[in-house]
Amino acid sequence: MPHLSQKTFCLYTYGCQMNEHDSERIAGMLESHGAVEVDAIEDAEIAIFVTCCIREAADVRLMGQVASIKNIPLPEGSALSKRMVCIGGCIGQRDGDALPDKLAHVDVVFGTQNIERLPYLLEAAISEGGHHVEILEKSDTFSTDLPAKREHPWSAWLPITVGCNNFCTYCIVPYVRGRERSRALEDIAADAAALVADGVKEITLLGQNVNSYGRDLYGEPRFADVLRAVSETGVERLRFATSHPKDLTDEVIGLYATLDNLMPSLHLPVQSGSDRILKAMNRRYTAERYLSLIDAVREANPDVALSTDIIVGFPGETEQDFQATYDLVKRVGYSQVFTFIYSPREGTPAASMADDTPREIIQRRFDSLVDLVQENAYAHNQRFVGRTLAVLVEGASKRDERVLVGHSPHNITVHAPIPEGMDAAALAGSTVMVEIDQAKAWYLSGAMVRA
Ligand code: SAH
Ligand code: SF4
Ligand code: F3S
Repeated sequence: MPHLSQKTFCLYTYGCQMNEHDSERIAGMLESHGAVEVDAIEDAEIAIFVTCCIREAADVRLMGQVASIKNIPLPEGSALSKRMVCIGGCIGQRDGDALPDKLAHVDVVFGTQNIERLPYLLEAAISEGGHHVEILEKSDTFSTDLPAKREHPWSAWLPITVGCNNFCTYCIVPYVRGRERSRALEDIAADAAALVADGVKEITLLGQNVNSYGRDLYGEPRFADVLRAVSETGVERLRFATSHPKDLTDEVIGLYATLDNLMPSLHLPVQSGSDRILKAMNRRYTAERYLSLIDAVREANPDVALSTDIIVGFPGETEQDFQATYDLVKRVGYSQVFTFIYSPREGTPAASMADDTPREIIQRRFDSLVDLVQENAYAHNQRFVGRTLAVLVEGASKRDERVLVGHSPHNITVHAPIPEGMDAAALAGSTVMVEIDQAKAWYLSGAMVRA
């Protein structure tokens, strides 16, 4: 691949962990072709956008970002006649050929199913000029055997499924990521073992709905089998995202009581507390069923920190529906809630559902939920004051280089002053014990007791 040798590239990544992991694989793949990753667009001959279209705001932001780099000159000494602009990810998959019409300076468009084609498309764009668009509707293979360049050497994403079969009525993901496909259990276990041998301390299993893992495989291995197999590698911290409540089994919940390295945190998106809205969303569970899952998790391990996603303003949401959501959030006491205002996505069933709720009312509901979430998070975090927690250190705080930042087993951010004679770079990637003396809504702080 002579054209990519020594070429500099920078990556812009939007959206979910799937995209973050795809970007790591894009970086690893381009570096294996001799290209060099840089942080600043001014130093990059190639700009790659790994995009998201889950809500309208994500679309608008991307168009602005791509347009804004148009007039930035190429780095000095570059042999290219223009900076190569590549768009991949979910907007690439959705818009394909239409993208160069909207953004004339785009050179390459690729999708979610063919990231391994990027070096070839780039080479063609560099040598021939013009637009090079290639989208695969459906792929039977995983590109997970591409080399990944991990952002942190001690933490890794490990995809176990790609795509989604659930077709929640508001959601574009099944249209841009394709049908759900599971990786073979042996491949996942082998990858996990290789990561641990490479020094990885934290593995996060990825899928749009990890709980439906294996239904498309011979013998129908279950998600609980994956958890057990990866746990057996001895990895220090095992996490997963995301869980769909309709498929979360008692077997998986039970593992919170028995697997020591399965971290005590669970992201279980509820979306709404109203059965009427849940039905219109095609979520296939009731609020009561959801709450019984929460009770079961707490019974298995009362220390599990719970987080969720909520959509406010789904078409036809009444004050009563919203109140049901508000009450559910209050009752569960989440450590973190990601709140979204409903955004119609063309081509999804909900986009054509009638909706006459005024924008101000939706905003008021959203604001009151955000206040509750903040109170909840604050109250939830108080339970850690006085406890000593194992913290996997990421490095120094952006605001103060004498303060370390890391995450507790519950996935809550922890800050602690760095003791004299130690520095953040040396501590990064190690696990230290921190005695918590203060809890805020979004982080805990305390003092390091021993390295
Ligand atoms: N597969 C995961 C994540 C999906 S996207 C899951 O099922 O949980 C992450 C979150 O974005 C969703 O949980 C949902 O709360 C939100 N979301 C998805 N589509 C949306 C839309 N059209 N408008 C607003 N929020 C949306
Ligand atoms: Fe979207 Fe629903 Fe699939 Fe999650 S489970 S990705 S919300 S369709
Ligand atoms: Fe966004 Fe695609 Fe993920 S739409 S949330 S990047 S699957």
